Amino acid sequence: MINRRDTVARIVLEHSECAPVFQKHRIDYCCKGSMTLEEACSARELDTPAVLADLESAIAARRGSPDQDPRELNTPALVGHIMSHHHEYLRKALPFIQVLSNKVARVHGDHNPKLLDVHGTVESLVEALMPHLEQEEEVLFPALMVRGGDPTLIQKELASMHEEHLEVGGMLDRLRTAADEFVTPDWACNSYRTLFAELEALEADILRHVHLENHVLMPRFAAS
Ligand SMILES: [Fe+2]
Ligand SMILES: [Fe+2]
Repeated sequence: MINRRDTVARIVLEHSECAPVFQKHRIDYCCKGSMTLEEACSARELDTPAVLADLESAIAARRGSPDQDPRELNTPALVGHIMSHHHEYLRKALPFIQVLSNKVARVHGDHNPKLLDVHGTVESLVEALMPHLEQEEEVLFPALMVRGGDPTLIQKELASMHEEHLEVGGMLDRLRTAADEFVTPDWACNSYRTLFAELEALEADILRHVHLENHVLMPRFAAS
């Protein structure tokens, strides 16, 4: 079903249920989406047949209730989906996570200093993402949706969007490391557990969001 020479971006485009499997194995299907499955596994020193088996079982579990294929949406519908699902989610989730990570770092930072890194990385994500969402909504997306949008502006905005996605990808990687793969210790309190569950959900949502922008939206406007 899945070929080890398929790129990881293509695998998620064809089977969105594979995204959490890649997330779990720290295979970046957004910013390093052009790697083949085999290359991505060897870069992370993972056993390719084991990852393949995980992907196949996610696909089998999901069969019968597939998501709508985002490639079938026209550009206004795709942009609308990105804003109403992912941008709206970030505007609600980030302030909550920011307060919670500050609290958990303050209370438990002595016991686990990595929580200070978690909070610092959350702050960096907020700083990077909030202006990024605004720039997309106010400049890039409107330019993509008008007939005859300025091609120079579009290419410049797409390039900076892509650059910022790479930075966000690096922050997510740091976050997962600082948060010990989102596994909480036995002594963790409810706030700590809630924070880690929220962070894992945040990572999943950002990965899907960036994947849509990098691999579904952007190719429609690739410079010729
Ligand atoms: Fe976005
Ligand atoms: Fe973006």
